[in-house]
Amino acid sequence: MISSATDLYCVLGNPVAHSKSPLIHNAAFRDLGIDAVYLAFAPEITGAAIHSAMEAMRTLNIRGASVTIPFKETVIPCLDYIDPAARQIGAVNTVVNRNGRLLGFNTDRDAAVAPLKRFGIRGKTVCVVGAGGAARAVAHGIAAEGGNLVILNRTEERGRALADRVNGRYISPDRAAEVRAQIVVNTTSVGMVPNTEALSFPETALFPGAVVMDVVYTPLDTCLLKAAETRGCATVDGLSMFVAQAAAQFELWTGKAPDTGLMKQILLETL
Ligand code: ATR
Repeated sequence: MISSATDLYCVLGNPVAHSKSPLIHNAAFRDLGIDAVYLAFAPEITGAAIHSAMEAMRTLNIRGASVTIPFKETVIPCLDYIDPAARQIGAVNTVVNRNGRLLGFNTDRDAAVAPLKRFGIRGKTVCVVGAGGAARAVAHGIAAEGGNLVILNRTEERGRALADRVNGRYISPDRAAEVRAQIVVNTTSVGMVPNTEALSFPETALFPGAVVMDVVYTPLDTCLLKAAETRGCATVDGLSMFVAQAAAQFELWTGKAPDTGLMKQILLETL
Protein backbone atom coordinates (compact mmCIF):
# COMPACT_ATOMS: atom_id res chain seq x y z
CA MET A 1 0.00 0.00 0.00
CA ILE A 2 1.25 3.51 -0.80
CA SER A 3 2.02 5.51 2.37
CA SER A 4 4.08 8.50 3.47
CA ALA A 5 7.09 6.17 3.67
CA THR A 6 6.82 4.98 0.08
CA ASP A 7 9.87 5.67 -2.08
CA LEU A 8 9.45 7.27 -5.52
CA TYR A 9 11.28 6.26 -8.71
CA CYS A 10 10.53 7.46 -12.25
CA VAL A 11 11.30 7.43 -15.94
CA LEU A 12 12.15 10.74 -17.66
CA GLY A 13 11.57 10.89 -21.40
CA ASN A 14 9.66 12.78 -24.06
CA PRO A 15 7.46 11.26 -25.34
CA VAL A 16 7.06 8.85 -22.47
CA ALA A 17 3.42 7.70 -22.66
CA HIS A 18 4.46 4.51 -24.51
CA SER A 19 7.00 3.50 -21.87
CA LYS A 20 6.63 0.06 -20.31
CA SER A 21 9.19 0.84 -17.60
CA PRO A 22 6.54 1.66 -14.94
CA LEU A 23 4.88 -1.72 -15.51
CA ILE A 24 7.97 -3.83 -14.99
CA HIS A 25 9.61 -1.82 -12.21
CA ASN A 26 6.37 -1.62 -10.19
CA ALA A 27 5.88 -5.37 -10.68
CA ALA A 28 9.42 -6.01 -9.42
CA PHE A 29 8.86 -3.76 -6.37
CA ARG A 30 5.67 -5.69 -5.54
CA ASP A 31 7.34 -9.04 -6.17
CA LEU A 32 10.23 -8.25 -3.79
CA GLY A 33 8.04 -6.51 -1.17
CA ILE A 34 9.83 -3.14 -1.64
CA ASP A 35 7.77 -0.11 -0.54
CA ALA A 36 8.21 1.99 -3.68
CA VAL A 37 6.35 3.28 -6.73
CA TYR A 38 7.63 4.16 -10.19
CA LEU A 39 5.98 6.87 -12.34
CA ALA A 40 6.55 8.40 -15.79
CA PHE A 41 7.40 12.08 -16.34
CA ALA A 42 7.86 14.02 -19.60
CA PRO A 43 9.93 17.21 -19.08
CA GLU A 44 9.99 19.70 -21.94
CA ILE A 45 12.63 18.73 -24.49
CA THR A 46 14.07 22.21 -24.88
CA GLY A 47 15.38 24.60 -22.25
CA ALA A 48 16.42 23.66 -18.75
CA ALA A 49 13.61 21.22 -17.96
CA ILE A 50 15.88 18.19 -17.55
CA HIS A 51 18.03 20.26 -15.16
CA SER A 52 14.89 21.17 -13.18
CA ALA A 53 13.90 17.51 -13.13
CA MET A 54 17.25 16.61 -11.55
CA GLU A 55 16.79 19.40 -8.99
CA ALA A 56 13.36 17.95 -8.24
CA MET A 57 14.95 14.55 -7.64
CA ARG A 58 17.18 16.10 -4.97
CA THR A 59 14.43 18.25 -3.44
CA LEU A 60 11.75 15.55 -3.33
CA ASN A 61 14.17 12.69 -2.63
CA ILE A 62 13.16 10.76 -5.74
CA ARG A 63 15.36 7.72 -5.27
CA GLY A 64 16.17 6.85 -8.85
CA ALA A 65 15.30 7.54 -12.47
CA SER A 66 15.47 5.85 -15.83
CA VAL A 67 16.48 8.35 -18.50
CA THR A 68 15.35 7.86 -22.08
CA ILE A 69 15.02 9.68 -25.44
CA PRO A 70 15.99 12.52 -25.75
CA PHE A 71 17.72 13.15 -22.40
CA LYS A 72 20.50 10.55 -22.19
CA GLU A 73 23.18 13.09 -23.07
CA THR A 74 21.68 16.35 -21.80
CA VAL A 75 21.24 14.89 -18.31
CA ILE A 76 25.01 14.43 -17.87
CA PRO A 77 25.95 18.00 -16.80
CA CYS A 78 23.15 17.93 -14.20
CA LEU A 79 24.70 15.02 -12.26
CA ASP A 80 27.25 14.90 -9.42
CA TYR A 81 29.07 11.76 -10.54
CA ILE A 82 29.29 9.82 -13.82
CA ASP A 83 30.36 6.19 -13.83
CA PRO A 84 33.51 5.75 -16.02
CA ALA A 85 31.72 3.47 -18.55
CA ALA A 86 28.85 5.97 -18.91
CA ARG A 87 31.38 8.77 -19.33
CA GLN A 88 33.19 6.88 -22.10
CA ILE A 89 29.88 6.18 -23.85
CA GLY A 90 28.74 9.77 -23.30
CA ALA A 91 25.24 8.68 -22.29
CA VAL A 92 23.44 8.05 -19.02
CA ASN A 93 20.26 5.96 -18.82
CA THR A 94 20.18 5.47 -15.04
CA VAL A 95 20.29 8.00 -12.20
CA VAL A 96 20.76 6.89 -8.59
CA ASN A 97 20.03 9.37 -5.77
CA ARG A 98 22.46 8.64 -2.90
CA ASN A 99 21.64 11.05 -0.08
CA GLY A 100 21.12 13.96 -2.46
CA ARG A 101 24.09 13.11 -4.72
CA LEU A 102 22.94 12.11 -8.19
CA LEU A 103 25.01 9.34 -9.76
CA GLY A 104 24.80 8.50 -13.48
CA PHE A 105 25.25 5.03 -15.01
CA ASN A 106 24.73 3.33 -18.37
CA THR A 107 23.10 -0.10 -18.37
CA ASP A 108 22.33 -0.05 -22.13
CA ARG A 109 25.76 -1.11 -23.39
CA ASP A 110 25.96 -4.57 -21.83
CA ALA A 111 22.22 -5.11 -22.32
CA ALA A 112 22.51 -4.35 -26.07
CA VAL A 113 25.37 -6.68 -26.78
CA ALA A 114 24.10 -9.62 -24.72
CA PRO A 115 21.44 -10.87 -27.22
CA LEU A 116 23.86 -10.49 -30.18
CA LYS A 117 26.70 -12.51 -28.68
CA ARG A 118 25.23 -15.86 -29.74
CA PHE A 119 25.51 -14.81 -33.40
CA GLY A 120 29.16 -13.82 -33.03
CA ILE A 121 30.26 -10.18 -33.29
CA ARG A 122 34.06 -10.29 -33.72
CA GLY A 123 35.15 -9.37 -37.25
CA LYS A 124 31.58 -8.78 -38.46
CA THR A 125 30.45 -5.61 -40.22
CA VAL A 126 27.95 -4.04 -37.86
CA CYS A 127 25.78 -1.11 -38.96
CA VAL A 128 24.48 0.96 -36.07
CA VAL A 129 21.56 3.15 -37.18
CA GLY A 130 21.44 6.40 -35.21
CA ALA A 131 23.98 8.46 -33.32
CA GLY A 132 22.23 9.43 -30.09
CA GLY A 133 22.75 8.12 -26.57
CA ALA A 134 21.40 4.65 -27.31
CA ALA A 135 23.61 4.41 -30.41
CA ARG A 136 26.67 5.32 -28.39
CA ALA A 137 25.96 2.58 -25.87
CA VAL A 138 25.42 -0.02 -28.61
CA ALA A 139 28.46 1.12 -30.61
CA HIS A 140 30.79 0.99 -27.60
CA GLY A 141 29.47 -2.48 -26.76
CA ILE A 142 30.04 -3.69 -30.34
CA ALA A 143 33.53 -2.13 -30.41
CA ALA A 144 34.42 -3.91 -27.17
CA GLU A 145 33.36 -7.20 -28.79
CA GLY A 146 35.55 -6.63 -31.87
CA GLY A 147 32.88 -5.75 -34.45
CA ASN A 148 33.71 -3.50 -37.45
CA LEU A 149 31.45 -0.50 -37.00
CA VAL A 150 29.60 1.54 -39.59
CA ILE A 151 27.46 4.37 -38.25
CA LEU A 152 24.45 5.35 -40.37
CA ASN A 153 22.68 8.53 -39.34
CA ARG A 154 20.35 11.13 -40.78
CA THR A 155 22.53 13.98 -39.50
CA GLU A 156 26.02 13.53 -40.93
CA GLU A 157 27.84 15.58 -38.32
CA ARG A 158 26.49 13.50 -35.42
CA GLY A 159 27.12 10.28 -37.31
CA ARG A 160 30.74 11.18 -38.05
CA ALA A 161 31.34 12.26 -34.45
CA LEU A 162 30.19 8.86 -33.15
CA ALA A 163 32.12 6.98 -35.84
CA ASP A 164 35.31 8.79 -34.79
CA ARG A 165 34.76 7.89 -31.14
CA VAL A 166 34.41 4.17 -31.81
CA ASN A 167 36.95 3.78 -34.67
CA GLY A 168 34.15 3.19 -37.14
CA ARG A 169 33.15 4.88 -40.39
CA TYR A 170 30.13 6.98 -41.23
CA ILE A 171 27.70 6.30 -44.06
CA SER A 172 24.69 8.31 -45.16
CA PRO A 173 21.26 6.59 -45.22
CA ASP A 174 21.05 6.66 -49.04
CA ARG A 175 24.20 4.51 -49.25
CA ALA A 176 23.05 1.83 -46.77
CA ALA A 177 23.27 -1.02 -49.31
CA GLU A 178 27.00 -0.42 -49.81
CA VAL A 179 27.70 -1.46 -46.23
CA ARG A 180 26.64 -5.11 -46.78
CA ALA A 181 26.07 -5.25 -43.05
CA GLN A 182 26.14 -8.64 -41.32
CA ILE A 183 24.50 -7.13 -38.26
CA VAL A 184 22.15 -4.10 -38.28
CA VAL A 185 21.03 -2.44 -35.05
CA ASN A 186 18.38 0.28 -35.09
CA THR A 187 18.89 2.59 -32.11
CA THR A 188 16.55 5.38 -33.28
CA SER A 189 12.91 5.84 -32.38
CA VAL A 190 11.96 5.32 -36.03
CA GLY A 191 9.22 2.64 -36.20
CA MET A 192 7.99 3.31 -32.66
CA VAL A 193 4.29 3.99 -32.07
CA PRO A 194 2.56 6.02 -33.44
CA ASN A 195 4.65 6.03 -36.66
CA THR A 196 4.94 2.26 -36.92
CA GLU A 197 5.25 2.19 -40.71
CA ALA A 198 8.54 4.12 -40.69
CA LEU A 199 11.73 2.23 -41.60
CA SER A 200 15.14 3.33 -40.26
CA PHE A 201 17.12 1.14 -42.70
CA PRO A 202 16.07 0.43 -46.30
CA GLU A 203 14.67 -3.06 -46.88
CA THR A 204 16.69 -3.47 -50.07
CA ALA A 205 19.93 -3.03 -48.07
CA LEU A 206 19.13 -6.07 -45.87
CA PHE A 207 20.91 -9.22 -47.04
CA PRO A 208 19.89 -12.84 -46.30
CA GLY A 209 21.75 -14.27 -43.33
CA ALA A 210 22.23 -10.91 -41.64
CA VAL A 211 21.09 -10.30 -38.06
CA VAL A 212 18.76 -7.36 -37.51
CA MET A 213 18.12 -5.99 -34.05
CA ASP A 214 15.70 -3.22 -33.11
CA VAL A 215 15.84 -1.43 -29.77
CA VAL A 216 12.24 -0.29 -30.33
CA TYR A 217 9.84 -2.54 -28.41
CA THR A 218 6.54 -0.72 -29.03
CA PRO A 219 5.55 -2.50 -31.20
CA LEU A 220 7.60 -5.64 -30.63
CA ASP A 221 7.29 -6.67 -34.26
CA THR A 222 8.56 -3.44 -35.87
CA CYS A 223 8.38 -2.70 -39.55
CA LEU A 224 12.18 -3.18 -39.70
CA LEU A 225 12.02 -6.65 -38.13
CA LYS A 226 9.16 -7.65 -40.43
CA ALA A 227 11.20 -6.51 -43.44
CA ALA A 228 14.22 -8.43 -42.09
CA GLU A 229 12.21 -11.64 -41.80
CA THR A 230 10.97 -11.18 -45.36
CA ARG A 231 14.57 -10.80 -46.55
CA GLY A 232 15.77 -13.95 -44.75
CA CYS A 233 17.53 -12.28 -41.83
CA ALA A 234 17.61 -13.40 -38.20
CA THR A 235 15.89 -10.92 -35.89
CA VAL A 236 16.35 -9.74 -32.32
CA ASP A 237 13.48 -7.70 -30.86
CA GLY A 238 13.78 -4.92 -28.30
CA LEU A 239 12.47 -6.99 -25.41
CA SER A 240 15.70 -8.75 -24.32
CA MET A 241 17.72 -5.56 -24.27
CA PHE A 242 14.93 -3.64 -22.59
CA VAL A 243 14.53 -6.15 -19.76
CA ALA A 244 18.31 -6.50 -19.26
CA GLN A 245 18.88 -2.74 -18.98
CA ALA A 246 15.91 -2.40 -16.62
CA ALA A 247 17.07 -5.26 -14.38
CA ALA A 248 20.52 -3.68 -14.10
CA GLN A 249 18.90 -0.33 -13.17
CA PHE A 250 16.74 -1.99 -10.53
CA GLU A 251 19.82 -3.59 -8.99
CA LEU A 252 21.69 -0.27 -8.91
CA TRP A 253 18.74 1.35 -7.09
CA THR A 254 17.82 -1.40 -4.63
CA GLY A 255 20.79 -3.77 -4.46
CA LYS A 256 18.38 -6.57 -5.35
CA ALA A 257 18.09 -8.55 -8.59
CA PRO A 258 14.55 -8.55 -9.98
CA ASP A 259 12.89 -11.58 -11.56
CA THR A 260 13.58 -10.93 -15.27
CA GLY A 261 11.22 -13.76 -16.24
CA LEU A 262 8.40 -11.90 -14.50
CA MET A 263 9.39 -8.66 -16.26
CA LYS A 264 9.36 -10.39 -19.67
CA GLN A 265 6.03 -12.08 -18.98
CA ILE A 266 4.40 -8.76 -18.04
CA LEU A 267 5.77 -7.09 -21.15
CA LEU A 268 4.58 -9.86 -23.44
CA GLU A 269 1.09 -9.60 -21.95
CA THR A 270 0.89 -5.91 -22.91
CA LEU A 271 2.67 -5.87 -26.28
P1 ATR B 1 18.88 8.91 -27.41
O1 ATR B 1 19.91 9.69 -26.69
O2 ATR B 1 17.88 8.33 -26.50
O3 ATR B 1 19.45 7.90 -28.36
P2 ATR B 1 18.69 11.10 -29.25
O4 ATR B 1 19.99 11.62 -28.76
O5 ATR B 1 17.58 12.04 -29.51
O6 ATR B 1 18.09 9.99 -28.28
O7 ATR B 1 19.03 10.27 -30.58
C1 ATR B 1 18.03 9.80 -31.40
C2 ATR B 1 18.65 9.25 -32.68
O8 ATR B 1 17.60 8.85 -33.52
C3 ATR B 1 19.46 10.25 -33.47
O9 ATR B 1 20.51 9.59 -34.13
C4 ATR B 1 18.46 10.79 -34.49
O10 ATR B 1 19.03 11.24 -35.71
P3 ATR B 1 19.68 12.72 -35.84
O11 ATR B 1 21.04 12.63 -35.26
O12 ATR B 1 19.70 12.97 -37.31
O13 ATR B 1 18.76 13.65 -35.09
C5 ATR B 1 17.67 9.54 -34.75
N1 ATR B 1 16.33 9.85 -35.24
C6 ATR B 1 15.27 10.25 -34.50
N2 ATR B 1 14.18 10.44 -35.29
C7 ATR B 1 14.56 10.14 -36.54
C8 ATR B 1 13.90 10.12 -37.81
N3 ATR B 1 12.62 10.44 -37.93
N4 ATR B 1 14.62 9.73 -38.90
C9 ATR B 1 15.92 9.39 -38.79
N5 ATR B 1 16.61 9.39 -37.62
C10 ATR B 1 15.95 9.76 -36.51
